[in-house]
Amino acid sequence: MDISKYRKDFPLLNKEDSPIYLDSACMTLRPQEVIDSITEYYTDYPACGGRSVHKLSWQVTEKFEMARDSLRKFLGAEQPSEIVFTKNATEGMNIVANGLRLKEGDHVLTSDKEHNANVVPWHHLSKYNGIKYDVLSPKDNYFFDIEALKESLTSKTKLFSFVHTSNLDGCTNPAKEIVEICHDKGVKVMIDIAQSAPHKEVDVVDLDVDFAAASAHKFCGPSGMGILYGKYDELANLVPTYVGGSTVINSTYEDYKLLPPPSCFEAGLQDYAGAIGSGVAAEYVMKVGRNNIQEHENKLNRIMSDKLKDLEAIDVVGPSDVAQRGGIFSFNIEGWDPTEIAMHLDEEYNIAIRSGMHCVHSWFNSRGINGTARASAYLYNDEADVLSFASAIEDIVNK
Ligand code: ALA
Repeated sequence: MDISKYRKDFPLLNKEDSPIYLDSACMTLRPQEVIDSITEYYTDYPACGGRSVHKLSWQVTEKFEMARDSLRKFLGAEQPSEIVFTKNATEGMNIVANGLRLKEGDHVLTSDKEHNANVVPWHHLSKYNGIKYDVLSPKDNYFFDIEALKESLTSKTKLFSFVHTSNLDGCTNPAKEIVEICHDKGVKVMIDIAQSAPHKEVDVVDLDVDFAAASAHKFCGPSGMGILYGKYDELANLVPTYVGGSTVINSTYEDYKLLPPPSCFEAGLQDYAGAIGSGVAAEYVMKVGRNNIQEHENKLNRIMSDKLKDLEAIDVVGPSDVAQRGGIFSFNIEGWDPTEIAMHLDEEYNIAIRSGMHCVHSWFNSRGINGTARASAYLYNDEADVLSFASAIEDIVNK
């Protein structure tokens, strides 16, 4: 993979004094073509889609639907109508959580290493609707426990919802096996692909998941945009949370008739520039090739992990085998608060990483850990980036 070619696409990396950006698990950088697609919308056809009949409006509708189709391809879905534009993965998961209309006593299960997007909605439904929410108790800190899953599904379990690749340690769960076990017991499955789809090939049909949610800002797209995939019949059975403009065929003073998916979930005027930019981002990532991205990230992670492996003060959080951690290097340094590490790297070395609990509070709290510092690589990082990071960490440890 010719990284120098891709680096040229990212304006931030071509500025004087550009940082070493190792915070892509939080948010990726955007290539010029994504930025251009957003500017073009506002410059050349800044109109409303799906309503007016002038040329500009048709252009918006066409580009909006083209973007939907790019995202369909990105996830391997069969039909564009199975792709709903959302604000982010969190919104997608909330649409499912609320749309299932779970009742008192219905059971929802998640893994123990979930983003707040896949924890808080269930606590919320437990508090206000009386559902029963449980978290798997695996034997191992990092790996999915298939036996624990089998033991925890009950006749009341309506949904198992789990993360595909963890944003905390980069570890990927065996999604296909998990889905098969759940479906054998008649349990629906939702998967959080925010941290997998940008970095590895994801095929929702092959995985056979019922729902999947992702955020565009993690695959070179705009912030504030996401996608929810649902098998068409599963989407059609959800009750939309937000309804209003654009979600109905017709309404009267007495009643209303909803449109079919995906329109019934896309209430009100949409973020057209955001949707179009998300489609361009998906095409960009597909052009680079996610197998190439995955291999490249693994290589970079191996370089930083090897460089730092003999430093006793460093504790890597995640599987010991670097090949299981994708492009994520989550760690602590003895005697340092994770946020102090991140601030020090930023101020002294111009290296951007993230620190804290990475929105996976429940995992950290259950283990009494204060968080980690996390470096995360993407397609535009090169060996020099991770070598600079490793050398800065060596400096800190040897201070
Ligand atoms: N969930 C995002 C992260 O991992 C924001 O940083």
